[in-house]
Amino acid sequence: MTLVLGIGLRAGTSYRELRDLVERALTGVVGVVGTVVTVEGREDEPGLQRLVASLGAQLLVASSVDLARQEVPSPSEQVGVLAGTASVAEAAVVLTGAELVVPKLKSAGATVAVGLLDAAPGYSRADRSVVHRVIAERRDVRRGFLDKPVDDELLTRVLEAAHRAPSVGLSQPWDFLLIRDVATRRKVHDLAAAQRDAFAASLPADRRAAFDGLKIEAILDTPLNIAVTCDPARGGRHVLGRHADPRTVWFSAAIAVQNLWLAARAEGLGVGWVSFFDPAEVGAVLGLPAHVELLGYLCVGHVEEFAAAPELMRSGWAARRPLAWAVHQEQWGHRGLPGSEASTTAALQDAAASSTRIGGGSQVVQVLVVDGGDAAEHLGAADVLVVQVGAEKPAADFGVLWRPARTADEAVELGVEVARDLVLQGVGELLLSCVGGSDVAERLTQGIRWGGLACGALVKRVDEPAAVTDSPA
Ligand SMILES: Cc1cc2nc3c(=O)[nH]c(=O)nc-3n(C[C@H](O)[C@H](O)[C@H](O)COP(=O)(O)O)c2cc1C
Repeated sequence: MTLVLGIGLRAGTSYRELRDLVERALTGVVGVVGTVVTVEGREDEPGLQRLVASLGAQLLVASSVDLARQEVPSPSEQVGVLAGTASVAEAAVVLTGAELVVPKLKSAGATVAVGLLDAAPGYSRADRSVVHRVIAERRDVRRGFLDKPVDDELLTRVLEAAHRAPSVGLSQPWDFLLIRDVATRRKVHDLAAAQRDAFAASLPADRRAAFDGLKIEAILDTPLNIAVTCDPARGGRHVLGRHADPRTVWFSAAIAVQNLWLAARAEGLGVGWVSFFDPAEVGAVLGLPAHVELLGYLCVGHVEEFAAAPELMRSGWAARRPLAWAVHQEQWGHRGLPGSEASTTAALQDAAASSTRIGGGSQVVQVLVVDGGDAAEHLGAADVLVVQVGAEKPAADFGVLWRPARTADEAVELGVEVARDLVLQGVGELLLSCVGGSDVAERLTQGIRWGGLACGALVKRVDEPAAVTDSPA
C-alpha cells in the first residue's frame, strides 16, 4: 500500500518533532510512505527535508489556493488566517486523490495526516464503486417492460460488452440470435408455457400454490429476445485449455451473458433469462444448425425501474445465501469470510443454539437419510427428499442429494449445509428420518437437525434415532 503524508509546519520545526509526530500517525497503518505533501513556502524547511529523505519519499508542494479548495473533516480557522487555507495536512492528502485514513494529528509546531493512495491503477474509488453498484443492482427482470423499441446503437454496445467476455483458448463459442418477430416469439412462448405446466405438476401442493404467483418469462412482453448459443467445438482440435475440461466452452458463453446483463443494466435495459425449455426444441423453432446449442434465452427491453432485490426473494420463494457459507478457508467445511475465524462443527452447534432465522418459508419436506440401497425407491411423494450417504454415486435425480461423508465430522457439516440450503429454498419444516442407522448417516441426520434449527426451521425427528458410537470433535 502506498501512503501519502500531508504535513503542515511552522518555520523551524525540528526533524525530531516531525519524526515523532509521523511515527505516531503511522502507528497501526500498513504501507510505505511514497509521497509527502506540504504547503508552498515550507518545502525548504530543514526538518521537513530531513524527514522526507529518511522516508525515501518524494516531496510535493501545493499552493494554499489549491489546498483551500479541498473539503476536509477538521478545518481550522487559525490555520486559515496563518496559511491562507483552513487545512494543510488533511487538504494535502485529499488533493492527491488519496483516501484519508488518519485525520490530522498535532504536535507543538506541526500537523500531519495520512492518506492511502488508490490500489487500483486507472480506477478511482468512484469508478470502482460504480462497478460494484452495477453488479449489485443487476436484476433478472420479468415485469414492468416499456413499450419502447431497443435502439440499434444501444443494442450494439450491449452486445459488444457480451462479446468482450473471456473464453477458453479465446474460442469465443457464443453467437447472439436477435429475435423480434412475434410469430417466432409466440412459438417459443408456447414451449416455455408447456415447461411451466410440467414443473408446476412436479411440485408439492404448497409449493405449487406459491409458484402459481410467479412470472417466469417475458417473451411476449419485451420487444426483443436474444438466443445466446454455444458452439462447443468452435476453434477446432487444439483450443488452449479446453482439452482437460470441455465444460469450459459453456462457462465462456455463460460469462458472455453476464457481461451482456451488466452492460444492459447500466444502460437501463431489463434482461430476463428464461430456462423453461428443452434447448433442442427451441433450437428447432429457431432453425439453429445442429452443431450449435442454445445456452440462454433472454428477454430484453427498457424498464422504468429495477427492483432492489431478486423477485424470488421478494416473493419469499428463495433467499440469498450468506457469503460466509460459501467461503471455505484452507479446507472444505472451514467456512467464514476472509479475516474471520472459520466455523467448525462445534461452532455450528453453537449457532444452532443461538438460532438465526434466515428463510422463514412454509414448505414442509420429509428428509430421509439413506445409507446404501436404492434411494429412488423412496421418492414416491413430491415432498420427499432423499439424502444418500453411501460412497457410490446414485443415478442422477434432483430428489436424491448425494452426500458421501468421509468422517463423522464431515457428515455433520454436510448435514448442516443440506438443511441450510433447503431453508434458503423456502423450507420451513423438516420431517427427519434415517434409514440404515450407520454412524455416518446418524451424524448427517444430526447435522441436518442443527442446520435447520440454526436457520429457524421446525425440525421433527419422525423415527427413533440410533445410538452413535464416535462423537464429532
Ligand atoms: C441460468 C439461469 C436461468 C434462469 N432461468 C430463469 C427462468 O427460466 N425464469 C425466471 O423467472 N428466472 C430465471 N432466472 C433468473 C433467476 O431466477 C434470478 O437470476 C435469481 O432469482 C436472482 O435474481 P437476480 O438475477 O435479480 O439477482 C435464471 C437465471 C439464470 C442465471
